[in-house]
Amino acid sequence: MYLLCSMQLKMGKDLMLAYRLLVDGQPVAIPTETVYGLAANVYNEDAIAQVFDIKQRPKFDPLIVHCANFEDALDVADNIPEPLAKLAKAFWPGPLTIVVEKNKNIPDLVTAGLNTVAIRVPNHPLTLDLLYGLPFPVAAPSANPFSYVSPTNAFHVLDQLGDKIEYIIDGEECTVGLESTICRFANNEIEIMRLGGLSVEEIEAVSDFPVVVLANKDRENTPGSFKKHYSNNKELVLVENANEIPVLNEGEAAVYFKKPDSKVENQLFLSENGDTKEAAKNLFRVLRELDKDTIFKVYVELAPTTGLGPAINERLKRAAEV
Ligand code: TXA
Ligand code: MG
Repeated sequence: MYLLCSMQLKMGKDLMLAYRLLVDGQPVAIPTETVYGLAANVYNEDAIAQVFDIKQRPKFDPLIVHCANFEDALDVADNIPEPLAKLAKAFWPGPLTIVVEKNKNIPDLVTAGLNTVAIRVPNHPLTLDLLYGLPFPVAAPSANPFSYVSPTNAFHVLDQLGDKIEYIIDGEECTVGLESTICRFANNEIEIMRLGGLSVEEIEAVSDFPVVVLANKDRENTPGSFKKHYSNNKELVLVENANEIPVLNEGEAAVYFKKPDSKVENQLFLSENGDTKEAAKNLFRVLRELDKDTIFKVYVELAPTTGLGPAINERLKRAAEV
């Protein structure tokens, strides 16, 4: 009973309460289509500092600024190059983040001292309503402790940060399930700095410029690209093909990309029909499900290399690193 009451106080759809807390300088967890974020007033350095503390996130890892629409993004950026503006107009609200020159009013704490800022317009009805009402944009990293898998429903946030934050807006399951795709315009190319919930093919279909995915080595100087980032503390063995997954021993589990014919204990899958969007939506929930003491080794089948497959595989490869 007590648990139920405290849960009801901590999470719900009370946008007025969320609004008041944010205006008052307190962080609030917000749903987006990608993953849940931990939001604070972008112009309030104390509130932003709390976000770093709650997540135990190093200060050199910059945050993404979330705006209600493209016009509001113009207040945060000094200049949005036309090729990125074109993408933003095509995909916002949606799982695209652009990195552009920042406006001097954005505190250095948000951008880790860089002269650029990452911006996106999230596609979730509750969060869009909130952003339209607020007199400022919010800076929001994913609402998980640093280094852990991102949350894709309100219970994930409650579980890990519930005792540290006042309120979680419950926007149900995230529909995309992977963090946004981060792009910048440089060298006359659209450079993808982080693969995510918008596929390379979708960006190519709209862009007049070549789209390149920056290799990990070129991202070494990107703040926040740490090697071990999606760890759930298991030994993950990645395989190219489902038939490389052996018969499971005690303490072992398997994650198939596509639903297998047989049903065996500790055997999970990412997609019913082998669809990369469906698999992306399920990935973090499945990784969390395996995070129990009785399982120590997990075989995971990699996704195909089309659609959201590369973004899924990038998360899996990072999760597999020790
Ligand atoms: O889908 C998402 O992007 C989610 C939701 C909540 O919007 N947010 C998210 O935030 O994934 P976070 O903090 O977990 O990852 C943001 C990453 C940083 O780690 C950093 O690599 C990159 O964005 N970033 C932020 N500002 C940047 C900048 N100015 N230049 C380059 N990269 C930047
Ligand atoms: Mg994150």
